[in-house]
Amino acid sequence: MRVNLRTIMFILPLLWQAVWMLNRTVLADAVDDKVQAFLDEERGRWRDLNVPFSDGRLLHDLIIERGFKRGFEIGTSTGHSTVWIAWAMRKTGGRLITVEIDAERQAIAKRNIEEIGLGDYVEFLLGDAHELTPAQTGAFDFVFSDADKEWYVQYFKDLQTKLTPNACFTAHNISNRWGRGWVKEYLDYVNSVPDMTTRVDSSGGGVAITCKR
Ligand SMILES: C[S@@+](CC[C@H](N)C(=O)[O-])C[C@H]1O[C@@H](n2cnc3c(N)ncnc32)[C@H](O)[C@@H]1O
Repeated sequence: MRVNLRTIMFILPLLWQAVWMLNRTVLADAVDDKVQAFLDEERGRWRDLNVPFSDGRLLHDLIIERGFKRGFEIGTSTGHSTVWIAWAMRKTGGRLITVEIDAERQAIAKRNIEEIGLGDYVEFLLGDAHELTPAQTGAFDFVFSDADKEWYVQYFKDLQTKLTPNACFTAHNISNRWGRGWVKEYLDYVNSVPDMTTRVDSSGGGVAITCKR
């Protein structure tokens, strides 16, 4: 069979594209497998005030469901929630900025994220979120607040004008049952925001999910 140059020129880019796509699929699966294995293996072993497994999955699913791409996390610790959020961002084509004040915890979180192949999806900031949060210039469609609780309302206020029209702001350790102190203060505030609705998921450690209407 004679194959002329034009046929080769036609087939080569198609072949190249097929190989590229195959490679991408295989690599994607490899990262997914690694993350899944890491989360399963570490389940129950997190000791640094980390979110429970079910809350991590809740955040992950919310991001995927709504297609969020620009995430901000306050309180990285050793990175359990960070892994879930970054994994979801990888699937939506998004990215996460995460803030932690404790250098040792942040170093562990960084190592975890790098080891499972999610390094490209996370920017780690080291410092006081009281300063780093209001200093953010970008817009966010997803926020997870999990640092010092008495500052929750202020964090919300700091980011309120930076939320995109479809954004959700989530906060950890919130339960409708604890109707006093900082929880009450936080729920009272978010419930007063006119263009947002709040629901509380109490299936794990308590997550308040406040979304634009
Ligand atoms: C509950 S832990 C976060 C757990 C993390 N989301 C996870 O699931 O692995 C809270 C973290 O917030 C950090 N933190 C507390 N106050 C902070 C502040 N003002 N700025 C930055 N980080 C702070 C603490 O050092 C701690 O590691």
